[in-house]
Amino acid sequence: MPDPFSTRLVRWQRAHGRHDLPWQTDDPYRVWLSEIMLQQTQVATVIPYYQRFTESFPSVTALADAPLDEVLAHWAGLGYYSRARNLHQAARMVRDRFGGVFPPSAEGLIELPGIGRSTAAAVAGFCYAERTPILDGNVKRVLARWAGIDGFPGEKKTENKLWALAAGLLPTDAADMPAYTQGLMDLGATVCTPRRPDCPRCPLRDDCRAHIEGRQAELPTPRPKKTVPERATLMLLIRQGGQLLLERRPPTGIWGGLWSLPEAETAAQAVALCAERFGLAATPGAPQPALVHTFTHFRLTITPLPLEVAGELPRVAEADARWFARGEALKAGIPTPVRKLLLAEGRQESLF
Ligand code: ADE
Repeated sequence: MPDPFSTRLVRWQRAHGRHDLPWQTDDPYRVWLSEIMLQQTQVATVIPYYQRFTESFPSVTALADAPLDEVLAHWAGLGYYSRARNLHQAARMVRDRFGGVFPPSAEGLIELPGIGRSTAAAVAGFCYAERTPILDGNVKRVLARWAGIDGFPGEKKTENKLWALAAGLLPTDAADMPAYTQGLMDLGATVCTPRRPDCPRCPLRDDCRAHIEGRQAELPTPRPKKTVPERATLMLLIRQGGQLLLERRPPTGIWGGLWSLPEAETAAQAVALCAERFGLAATPGAPQPALVHTFTHFRLTITPLPLEVAGELPRVAEADARWFARGEALKAGIPTPVRKLLLAEGRQESLF
C-alpha cells in the first residue's frame, strides 16, 4: 500500500514545491490579496502587481482607507476589475465590522465579497491550518485524473463529486494543511499540467487512475461542445453607380431596425426579389467567400452575392430601402457581419 495521498503530497511539497512566492506567509491579508490576484492571472504576472500593491497598501486597513480610484489604478492591467471593487469593499467590511481583523475561519471568510468557497479555504488552510479543502481549476484536474472521475468539472454533479473527494483526502494532522494546500496548487501548476503532465515526477502516480489507464489526455473531461443550429443565407450586394442597396430590417427580431443587406436563399430567389421588391432587373455575379457569424442560439453562414442591376429604385420604398455610398453605410446602424463585409470589400477595392 502506498502512503496516504496527503502524506505523499505534503512530503513532495516540502522537497519539490514552491517556497519563494512573496505571499507565502500566514498573514490573511497578504494571502487573501494574492489569492484574488491569482484567480484569473498567472503567478509571473501577479508578482510585480502584488509587490506594488502591498507597498502602497501594507495592511487591510490601509487598503480600506484608500479611495477606490487609487485601488483601481494599482489593479490596472490585471483585468476583471470587479475583483478590485470587491477587494476594496471586503477591506472596508473587515475594517468596519471586524475591527481590522480577518474572520478566523473559512466559514467567516466566505461572507466577504469576492471570496468563494475555494478562496476561503485557501486562506484558512494557509493562515489558520484549518482542515478544509480547496478546489480551483488546477486541483479539479489533479483530482479528476487521480480518481478517474469522468464528467466536465464545470458541471454541478461532477463538481460535487470532486468536493466530496477533496474533503476526504485532507491530512489528519491540521499542522500539515499549509503544505498540503500549497502542494495541490504546486502539483497542478508544475507536474499535473493540462497538456503533457510529467507523470514520472508525480508522487501520486502509483495509484493515479489516469496514469494507470493512460487517460491523462482524456481527463478532466473537456467542456461539452455546444451544438448550435446552423443556418445559411445569401446577402445581396446590389450595386449601382458606386452605391449599394440597403434595406431597413423590421423593428423586432434579429438586428431589429438596423440597415442591412437584402437576403435570399438562392441566386434565382435573389433575382426575383430584386424585381418584385425593388423593381430592379438584376444579374447575379460569382458568390464571394462566406462569413460565419455566431449568435447565442445559432450559427449563420453568410455568402455575399454581388448583383448588377439596371433600373431606378421606386421612390415609395425609400423609407425602408435606399442606396448608400460605402462611407455612409459604415456610419449607419448596420449589423456586425454587414460591417465586416463592407470592410472586406474596401480592402479588395472592388468598391461599389
Ligand atoms: N494560485 C492560486 N493560489 C496560489 C498560490 N498560493 N501559490 C501559487 N499559485 C497559486
